Amino acid sequence: MKALVLSGGAGTRLRPITHTSAKQLVPVANKPVLFYGLESIAAAGIRQVGIIVGDTAEEIRAAVGDGSRFGLDVTYIPQHAPLGLAHAVLIAREFLGDDDFVMYLGDNFIVGGITELVEEFRATRPAAQILLTKVPDPRAFGVAELDVDGRVARLEEKPAAPRSDLALVGVYLFTSAVHEAVRSIEPSARGELEITDALQWLIDERRTVTSTVISGYWKDTGNVADMLEVNRSVLELLTPRNDGSVDDATEIIGRVRIGGGATVRGSRIVGPVIIGAGTVVENSYIGPSTSIAENCRVTDSEIEYSIVLSGSSLLGVGRVEASLIGRNVEITPAPPIPAAHRLVLGDHSKVQISA
Ligand code: G1P
Repeated sequence: MKALVLSGGAGTRLRPITHTSAKQLVPVANKPVLFYGLESIAAAGIRQVGIIVGDTAEEIRAAVGDGSRFGLDVTYIPQHAPLGLAHAVLIAREFLGDDDFVMYLGDNFIVGGITELVEEFRATRPAAQILLTKVPDPRAFGVAELDVDGRVARLEEKPAAPRSDLALVGVYLFTSAVHEAVRSIEPSARGELEITDALQWLIDERRTVTSTVISGYWKDTGNVADMLEVNRSVLELLTPRNDGSVDDATEIIGRVRIGGGATVRGSRIVGPVIIGAGTVVENSYIGPSTSIAENCRVTDSEIEYSIVLSGSSLLGVGRVEASLIGRNVEITPAPPIPAAHRLVLGDHSKVQISA
């Protein structure tokens, strides 16, 4: 069995973070979302992985390399334009051969991994096995309709009027039957070869398409609140560890992981919290469900339930909550006169000011 991991796409829903970074590399608990997927694939006993890359190919290659550190053997497959998930299967034909495979969308996060699913698929080998999850707004997803026996009856891509609240999760298991399906369908209204249409083709051809409903799922539907929540749930499982230096004036409570070369002085850290390598925290409070990446500086500040990406600093800014802060961002107090906010914000930034 092989894996096909999709890591192209523009990531418009997580702007401005994705203006400068691939959406699959957005960190959850200081680790790129994509890495959790690759680890799940390795844990399921799969070794050969094809990664579909687009405009952000360089960045993905730099982060993943040859895959050996995940115990994987990675082949990169360039897709010249984001022409759809079924198009990705089409161009991966040579890599996939006639093997069964799991297709994993690199921006999806599945709590608990895929080992059980892969085992179930290996034992039963339907033409395709899909994962479904209940979501509050299915219009941003492929949506499945099940018949009275719980079989997949119909699939629709991003319907304006969804017929159920069961969204397609971005992990699909296929036998080689899918290759005929992706060759047989036409591009959708958005100009893409949709995997949803390929699955519908299999259903129409009376091939077996099974489904499993899961919980514990996240994808970047543009909602920073969702991202903070997935970060929180991953931090709940954090193993505490201190590879940095913490002075006697610091109080550490609960699950806290401090990276190599990080320094914490005169502060109160209430976990679960992760602090990246090389970060300096001084005279500050870091509250629960916060991930601070590498080489940041937090001085005379308070932050809780937030994600801070690498190289950023919060210097004397009072309390920050429920925030997602990008790379190399500086947050400092304004001079006292005139009393005004002074902002330099990139495109698609969002700021809420407590005035
Ligand atoms: C894709 C699929 C959609 C699925 C979603 C899950 O959407 O087309 O059916 O529900 O992934 O992540 P996209 O991310 O291309 O908008």
